[in-house]
Amino acid sequence: MTDETATLTIAGKSYEFEVYTGTENERAIDFQKLRSQTGYITMDQGYGNTGSCFSSITYVDGAKGILRYRGYPIEEIAEQATFVEVAYLILYGELPDPRQLANFRANLAEHAQLHTSLEHHFSGFPKDAPPMAILSAMLNLVSCFHPEVLDVHAEGPGFDRTVALLLSKVRAIAAFSYRMATGKPLMHPNPNLSYCSNFLHMMFSEPYREFIATPVVERALNLFLVLHADHEQNCSTSTVRVVGSSRANLFSSVSAGVCALWGPLHGGANAAVIRMLEEIKTSGKPISHYLEMAKDKNNDYRLMGFGHRVYKNFDPRSLILKKRVYAVLEELQQEDPLLEVALELEEKTLKDDYFVERNLYPNIDFYSGILLRAIGIPLNMYTVMFAIGRMPGWIANWRELLEHNQRISRPRQIYTGETTRPFVPLAQR
Ligand code: ACO
Repeated sequence: MTDETATLTIAGKSYEFEVYTGTENERAIDFQKLRSQTGYITMDQGYGNTGSCFSSITYVDGAKGILRYRGYPIEEIAEQATFVEVAYLILYGELPDPRQLANFRANLAEHAQLHTSLEHHFSGFPKDAPPMAILSAMLNLVSCFHPEVLDVHAEGPGFDRTVALLLSKVRAIAAFSYRMATGKPLMHPNPNLSYCSNFLHMMFSEPYREFIATPVVERALNLFLVLHADHEQNCSTSTVRVVGSSRANLFSSVSAGVCALWGPLHGGANAAVIRMLEEIKTSGKPISHYLEMAKDKNNDYRLMGFGHRVYKNFDPRSLILKKRVYAVLEELQQEDPLLEVALELEEKTLKDDYFVERNLYPNIDFYSGILLRAIGIPLNMYTVMFAIGRMPGWIANWRELLEHNQRISRPRQIYTGETTRPFVPLAQR
């Protein structure tokens, strides 16, 4: 809270509201008493101007292209940290020392295995079931086999265990959904492998041949997960908070987060980008054709992987990914024809008034699909990969909401339907 106040005048009457300032000097007018004092509510569809919480996890400055986890710039983290270290940082607020990291890793290894009865549930899904539907359903199911995670007030070792269970099992669920879809036997985790190598082993090992991830592939997957680890109050994280605000358990809350992430305007965009690039490549039509469609107000078509609610100059994650995509393709001695299409599309949009005026730049999803293709992840798993990466952020936000004893989320509306009218019995209609 600051000394500053904001004055609102309605019909000649003035009301004063207090002002909050964050540690990065971002400011908010406290309208919590607006309705009780004035009878009015604020209308902010999509919540572009609404602060829903106080948070010390992640800072984003969209105008300057800044992203920091717990104060550490994403560029430095992406260069130097593993996903497990970043998960620890996001969850517990500080970088782990070697002993804390070793304990955290050991906890993850201990909880990597799915309960045998839980494994049987995979056979109940049709072979072509969407992996995001499986992930959301199975995350909720995990809590049935580990009822202790339903305690939303667990502290200390109880909370540590719940966190490790979720971070570790989400990886096995994702890999098992792929094994099931491809008709392959489930591949159990190997506690000696790192977080990323273990996931790739569960995805790609065969009973007669263990898949050993090369350092290039392991690093690339680490980077992908690190860049997705948190992004303050986006659609899926806000969903986790809204669900958690009813004091729903962590597993139900993140299961709802998975559903929110699935949509093509959010995490589903990473797969939609690849489908769009493939369509552009195979159609033989010039890129200008797709730009015109995206600009046409009578057409719903959008360029996937472009635009962002918060970033208005560039998305720092997209710059990091773009650089790394080149290096990974080179190290793996691969060429991806879709990269050329992506580069041309980016170049053309950067020169096009429509995209420039609206500040539409490539977001994280624009180049992430090309990275996932290079390391062999199938297209229908891309958003699942995003969900694995975002798990630390969802957990930390759920936890923070409880620590702050946040009120239940319950927005208002302006009613636009019929005013009162007498009921007409069926016989008279
Ligand atoms: N292609 C064409 N036009 C676009 C695009 C796009 N990708 N994105 C926004 N616009 C236009 C809108 O039509 C609108 O134009 P108008 O002012 O003439 O009406 C203007 O830019 C502002 O767009 P909004 O939809 O109001 O922006 P909003 O902040 O609500 O949406 C979003 C952001 C959802 C990311 C949007 O840019 C979009 O749909 N992008 C494509 C999907 C995508 O890549 N999503 C991933 C986002 S990153 C993430 O979630 C991990």
